[in-house]
Amino acid sequence: MNNSDIQAAWRYHDGTKHSHWSIRNNPHFLDWANRPLPFKIYPKIEPLPLPRDVSQTEVTALSAISETLASSQASSVPALQDLARILYFSAGITKHRAYPGGEIYFRAAACTGALYEIELYVVTGDLAGLDAGAYHFNPADVSLRLLRNGDFRGNVARATAMEPAVVHAPVTIICTGTYWRNAWKYQARTYRHFGWDGGTLVANMLAVAAASGLLAEIVLGFVDAEVNRLLDLDARREVSLFLVPLGRASESSLPAPREAPALGLETIPLSPREVEYSEMLQMHAASSLESEVEVAQWRGKPPVLPSSSASAGLIGEEVQLQRPPEEEQPKDSIEQVILRRGSTRAFDRTASITLAQVSTILDSATQGLPADFLQPPGTQLNDLYLIVQSVQGLKPGAYFFRRAQKSLELLKEGEFRAEAHHLGLEQQLPADACVNIFFLADLNRILERYGNRGYRAVQLEAGVIGGKIYLAAYAQRLGATGLTFFDDDVIDFLSPHAKGKSAVFLLAIGRPLKR
Ligand SMILES: Cc1cc2nc3c(=O)[nH]c(=O)nc-3n(C[C@H](O)[C@H](O)[C@H](O)COP(=O)(O)O)c2cc1C
Repeated sequence: MNNSDIQAAWRYHDGTKHSHWSIRNNPHFLDWANRPLPFKIYPKIEPLPLPRDVSQTEVTALSAISETLASSQASSVPALQDLARILYFSAGITKHRAYPGGEIYFRAAACTGALYEIELYVVTGDLAGLDAGAYHFNPADVSLRLLRNGDFRGNVARATAMEPAVVHAPVTIICTGTYWRNAWKYQARTYRHFGWDGGTLVANMLAVAAASGLLAEIVLGFVDAEVNRLLDLDARREVSLFLVPLGRASESSLPAPREAPALGLETIPLSPREVEYSEMLQMHAASSLESEVEVAQWRGKPPVLPSSSASAGLIGEEVQLQRPPEEEQPKDSIEQVILRRGSTRAFDRTASITLAQVSTILDSATQGLPADFLQPPGTQLNDLYLIVQSVQGLKPGAYFFRRAQKSLELLKEGEFRAEAHHLGLEQQLPADACVNIFFLADLNRILERYGNRGYRAVQLEAGVIGGKIYLAAYAQRLGATGLTFFDDDVIDFLSPHAKGKSAVFLLAIGRPLKR
């Protein structure tokens, strides 16, 4: 398999599109007796409970989500309290509810189907209160479990071809995806969800790290097999997706890589039986990087240019964003906002929101995204399109977000609730929302630059921005939910402007219906 053979990404993408036909003709049903466990459990490893009485940062949500710390500002080594805060507010259990199928433990970040297929691992040097090691984080008991004793940061740094943020990090969090836990419901689409659900989770992680005064960034370039081996993953079931180095220490503290033999650690099976979807294993293999040389070349390639539509001349009326001054913005802390976030289950169709609120969401959610694949900083792979339904200060219609100009361009005016209902898989939520935000990307251009790994990048970036939109909406006491969509119909509706692009992600924002 070769990362530059981009037909593999196209095959996966085209093969997992939703269409009227695919939805009507899919015989898949939810086999409740075979429902996967929502947690990865190592029955033979003792838990190391993380502190639960962690102080809150009191940094406002809106500044935390758009913050990028300069390395000079950042405090260097995370305390155990910081690590506990970052893990809990990214992947921790924030509420639970009883349903006919059993109890659901909802987590800090939104996740397709509440299936929580993203696992977190920590590779750390010695911290006060935590010995160097490679650990798994279990949100069920807010504990770490030691998989490997000793400092393995040199192995992680080597796998990333000495990416500076990883080389200097006292701690790196590794995010993995477990296929079956999500594929039980979504089948082969789970590989898209790895990016979406990993993205919403890491949006929280970046915000809480920034609020804790710690540098953090997303690293997507690494030798897959090396990181998988370090974590003792069975790569047919679970794979490393991206890394988040935290904090900054001197380079001289980085140890040499160590032997990391297979451990064969026992874990509790997720279900009586698992179904394997070969499309996803192929997509993963085709987007894997196989050597440090390949990682260095992948990262060092020229930056991706803004899409043609972002730099094209205006075709429609332009409306400037109107973000209120800092002192008029909501002051709730990032932790308060994460704790009250939850996907809106029904929007009030009669309600409206304001252009100032939409401006705050768009402006804050599209900043503060440090990632090795977004170079120079500020680059963005996804373009945002809006269907505005009820926003004071904006005519109803379809818009393109001109990020550099901080403006919205009206593509076509009209009342498009019926279209939004259809595009969002005929769900009521997009019809009743005040605004729907569609993420589209020029996959041709992205895959040409990044190879198949660009497919991981574009889905992940959409998830991160989507996660930030959730937080920016809830910071302003609005509601939001991620949604699925009919791929090609989205492009048709937004064309000719969107011609040649692919649909990646969708989010609806509005006012929750008071029952
Ligand atoms: C990318 C994404 C897509 C989603 N798609 C849908 C959807 O199509 N319909 C829906 O009702 N909810 C959708 N959701 C909401 C999830 O069901 C919700 O996040 C999950 O149940 C967890 O609940 P919480 O967000 O309230 O914590 C989506 C969430 C995400 C992150």
